Amino acid sequence: MSGHVALGVDVGGSGVKGAPVDLRTGELIEDRVRLETPQPATPEAVADTVKQVADGFGHHLGDGTVGITVPGVVTEGVVRSAANIDRSWIGTDADALMTERLAHATHVVNDADAAGVAEARYGAARGTRGLVLMTTLGTGIGTALLLDGQLVPNSELGHLVVDGHDAESRAASSAREREELSWEAWAERLQRYYSVLEDLLWPALIVVGGGVSKKADKFLPLLHLRAPIVPASLRNTAGIVGAAVLAHEQGS
Ligand code: BGC
Repeated sequence: MSGHVALGVDVGGSGVKGAPVDLRTGELIEDRVRLETPQPATPEAVADTVKQVADGFGHHLGDGTVGITVPGVVTEGVVRSAANIDRSWIGTDADALMTERLAHATHVVNDADAAGVAEARYGAARGTRGLVLMTTLGTGIGTALLLDGQLVPNSELGHLVVDGHDAESRAASSAREREELSWEAWAERLQRYYSVLEDLLWPALIVVGGGVSKKADKFLPLLHLRAPIVPASLRNTAGIVGAAVLAHEQGS
């Protein structure tokens, strides 16, 4: 692989998506490939799907490290939590499993951390000094903290207990759908969640990602916070791009 290209693969609850990324611009240099996430999404089954996605870009692999996201805490390549994924991930050495299955060096990271890195490098938080709080609103709530562009990994603020509830159980996008909340009713929950976060962290900027950020105009204008709160700009490529960046940095 040429020095400025790295492959990123984003493992989500419904799809496994991957593409080679131009690290100079954060753009995908080929169309993204998406395969259904196998069910049950055990580490072994997901590793097979990641391999299928990566094989499609074999001509880009070279000796670079492949970046892979998972929706859980990852320390030293080992998955430590599984709020919305198969519990058998807990304790799995995902780096070792993926490296063995792909027969290639891999680097596994948390999905929101990857998205945050991508937004900080190429997107909505580019150039922002101080603390940036990235939140992804989806099945759960993922968070990434970036200080002057540097990631503080595994922040897991989607599980902050707010008013006696795990925040993601009330404020994730899935809660809006499950409870058929109006945008206004959901925004009230987001207001409470982001206010608590803001009182604790005093970020310079809050970035909102996840599929629902496409509809940011329906709910962001309803929020009143000290920090500017803006939609993510990389949308559905942020995980792929951030995974590629982190893999490249780790492998170099
Ligand atoms: C997990 C996080 C993940 C987020 C988004 C949460 O439930 O605990 O690790 O980043 O969902 O997928």
